[in-house]
Amino acid sequence: MIEELKKLKDDFMAELENITSISELENLKVKFLGKKGKLTEILKNMGKLSAEERPKMGKIANEVRDILNAEVDEIENNLREKELNEKMKEEYIDITLPIKSANYGHLHPLKETIYELEELFESMGFMVLDGPEIETVENNFDLLNTPDDHPSRDLTDTFYFDETHLLRSQTSPVQIRAMKKYGAPIKMVSAGRTFRTDEVDDTHSPMFHQIEGLVVDKNITLGNLKSTIDTVLKRLFGDELETRYRPHYFPFTEPSLEVDATCAFCKGKGCEKCNHTGWSMELMGCGMVHPNVLRNCGIDPEVYQGFAFGMGIDRLTMVRCEINNIRLLYDNDKKFLEQF
Ligand code: DAH
Repeated sequence: MIEELKKLKDDFMAELENITSISELENLKVKFLGKKGKLTEILKNMGKLSAEERPKMGKIANEVRDILNAEVDEIENNLREKELNEKMKEEYIDITLPIKSANYGHLHPLKETIYELEELFESMGFMVLDGPEIETVENNFDLLNTPDDHPSRDLTDTFYFDETHLLRSQTSPVQIRAMKKYGAPIKMVSAGRTFRTDEVDDTHSPMFHQIEGLVVDKNITLGNLKSTIDTVLKRLFGDELETRYRPHYFPFTEPSLEVDATCAFCKGKGCEKCNHTGWSMELMGCGMVHPNVLRNCGIDPEVYQGFAFGMGIDRLTMVRCEINNIRLLYDNDKKFLEQF
């Protein structure tokens, strides 16, 4: 029987040498060490041995089994490692190959102007608010102290849905909403789309953008208005910019002013872009909030004063991007927009 066990081991070793895969190894295991394998076959004859010889033989048989199992484990580990290495070689990725260049987009120039302004005002302590594009006539005109016969109320100027609702013609109604909601003191800006029945030309569009601002507090003066607006315009166009405040009329402010800034192209010397005046005209309207407007929103004008302003974002963007035609901002021509 010892002979048989020795032969079994030699046979096993001989066959093991030719094994090249895990599945072959499995088969070999079954053939020699399985339930119906060669070792079991030999051990069946144990019964024929004497009582003395049986435990000795049992011990030897166990040793052989352990040796074979250990061999199998070692070969199995080697094979698994080899298979993994081959797989890794096949699946090798060359991370040094150049990647396909990605096509990154960017914000639309109008959105860039809006975000820049909002960030700037936020840094000066203003809330950034949103307002609806469909407004009530009350918020868009009545509470803003607009006389019944004011031309901006005319059907030829404003898009009405019915007698009480319209597409807002300015962002000023957001002032009204803000004062009604938050009361005084308040510092807010709100940017967004506005609508008027303008014919399209190089500088007009029936849809355009404004940013509205409002500050209400105690002891607010025209000086606060001027320093705020000068700071913002200098931040946008550079410190060498100068401003000019001209008297104007808006129903919701008293006094009312319009602001010009030195031309961004010639810095005030005079060039084709500014019609040789040296000034960028009508950048924005502003003024001290009319006492009626404060009263309409439940704020006592004897206690609180305020200033307000409205800027055309499309105009600012045209100056910033050196564009002379407002339509370019709305055409969505990728070739044009990619320049910025
Ligand atoms: N809403 C005015 C417009 O569309 C702009 C404006 C002027 C807004 C003066 C203001 C302001 O808040 O105080 O022409």
